[in-house]
Amino acid sequence: MELVNEENIDELIQAQSHIWNHTFNFIKSMALKSAIQLAIPDTINRHGKPMTLSELALALGVHPTKTHHLYRLMRLLIHSGFFKYTQTHSGQQGYTLTLASRLLLKENNLFDLSPFISMHLEPVLLEPFNHLTAFLQNDDPSAFKTAFGEQAWSYGEQDLGVASVFYEAMASDSLMMGRVVMVKCKNVFEGLKSLVDVGGGTGNMAKAIAETFPSLNCTVLDLPQAVSELKGSNNLSFLGGDMFQSVPPADAILLKWILHDWGDEDCIKILKNCKEAIPRNGKVIIIDIVMGNHENWTETQLLYDMEMMACVSGKERNEKEWAKLFLDSGFTTYKIHNVLGPRALIEVYPFKPNRTELVSSL
Ligand SMILES: C[S@@+](CC[C@H](N)C(=O)[O-])C[C@H]1O[C@@H](n2cnc3c(N)ncnc32)[C@H](O)[C@@H]1O
Repeated sequence: MELVNEENIDELIQAQSHIWNHTFNFIKSMALKSAIQLAIPDTINRHGKPMTLSELALALGVHPTKTHHLYRLMRLLIHSGFFKYTQTHSGQQGYTLTLASRLLLKENNLFDLSPFISMHLEPVLLEPFNHLTAFLQNDDPSAFKTAFGEQAWSYGEQDLGVASVFYEAMASDSLMMGRVVMVKCKNVFEGLKSLVDVGGGTGNMAKAIAETFPSLNCTVLDLPQAVSELKGSNNLSFLGGDMFQSVPPADAILLKWILHDWGDEDCIKILKNCKEAIPRNGKVIIIDIVMGNHENWTETQLLYDMEMMACVSGKERNEKEWAKLFLDSGFTTYKIHNVLGPRALIEVYPFKPNRTELVSSL
């Protein structure tokens, strides 16, 4: 059969366009990165009303010969859902923000998620993807190792610039997720007297918990270099340490965005240390992706999994893989709260809790 014939010609063109889109998908990421570097969201927001192309070009310091180029960048970013071209009742026309670009405002904004973009589109975290093929054919633990000859964690210890971009990105996520978790899963923390946020970074997640529950003592455990300069408050303190060595005792241990960084063996070490730190009626609270929890999040989850494969030696896990980790670390029951979009909150218990309605036994 001929490959190009009258019956399949439209499908062929469709398939070719599918190839083009996937070849050029990186341009969407780079256009967004440029929008952040130019501070387009803040510039439009500061303007206070729809901003015309010439106003935007002037405010951004775009070269006079490049106004049309800016128009083309904005056209793609509108298509990607980051801006709108609006006409108000009073006849004003121009660019306005969408919810997605509101989350990228640096000024007057509760949550600025732009550090996440800056971090993941740093050349150092893009380079491993140029080494995926070699990584699949060698025995390196990550494509990062193939690219740079060492793992991301030790690379970050030497390159303080990269480390600070990393901690800023984590902090921005935890600032938002702290509020989200306190709205969606507040009851998970009720009744606790002490909590350790293991690998809690700059402490934004623990801060949200400590502020919501003033009688809950929260400790952030992270690498000494990550927490040495950080100051706590009444019920929040920072502690330098190594989760692979030990975890301080508490009613509950929080692991947000920790286990997806590591392979199964390392996760079991961390989880066993957490189990030793909690009492019989204690629990471990995990915030991470559960692959396949809802079809809406499939693409985000698949992409995040590839990021974990390339940049660290981690992975995103489905429920079966999580359950195996819990069983292998000595836990008996768990409960998944699928209320955080692509991620979920998982309570893991060493012993079956009294309120057993919704837990899955291992
Ligand atoms: C992906 S970040 C997550 C940070 C934070 N939980 C959040 O969600 O924003 C991983 C964290 O683990 C910390 N970490 C890495 N190795 C560690 C270790 N051996 N002991 C304690 N913390 C560690 C890193 O410094 C970093 O803050």
